[in-house]
Amino acid sequence: MKIAIGNDHAAPGLKLKVIEHLVNQGFECIDLGCAEGEKCDYPVAARAVCERILSGEADLGILICGTGVGMSLAANKFKGIRAACCSECFSARLTREHNNANVLCFGARVVGEGTALDLVDTFVNTPFSEDERHKRRLALIKEIEEQN
Ligand code: RB5
Repeated sequence: MKIAIGNDHAAPGLKLKVIEHLVNQGFECIDLGCAEGEKCDYPVAARAVCERILSGEADLGILICGTGVGMSLAANKFKGIRAACCSECFSARLTREHNNANVLCFGARVVGEGTALDLVDTFVNTPFSEDERHKRRLALIKEIEEQN
């Protein structure tokens, strides 16, 4: 599985920890975020990650800024992106099972490294449930997306 990862200047250190963690488990990572000492506007990183997912170059995305909120707002502007801002694992699991989220966002100023890596593990290892009621709800989200 290929994972696109983006960050702004609030999270270069945590981004590297996440990449190391995923690579150690055999995941392929595409680093689209900024490095330590660089400044980066979060919508730029969100765009880079979302475009990789929509083109099929990446399967899932991870976006890290100060809060995770700006990243999720920007990512959810893309048709076909379902970005979830999470700070605990219950939501990270359910957003894969129920919402088929394809981008996980979190805040480097909100969660510590341990929680961040747990969020990532939960997100990348949980499949969509394929349940009909969840598919129906996702189709309704798509309808909103198409009409607005
Ligand atoms: C950057 O200082 C900060 O605004 C950003 O990382 C993020 O928290 C925005 O949502």
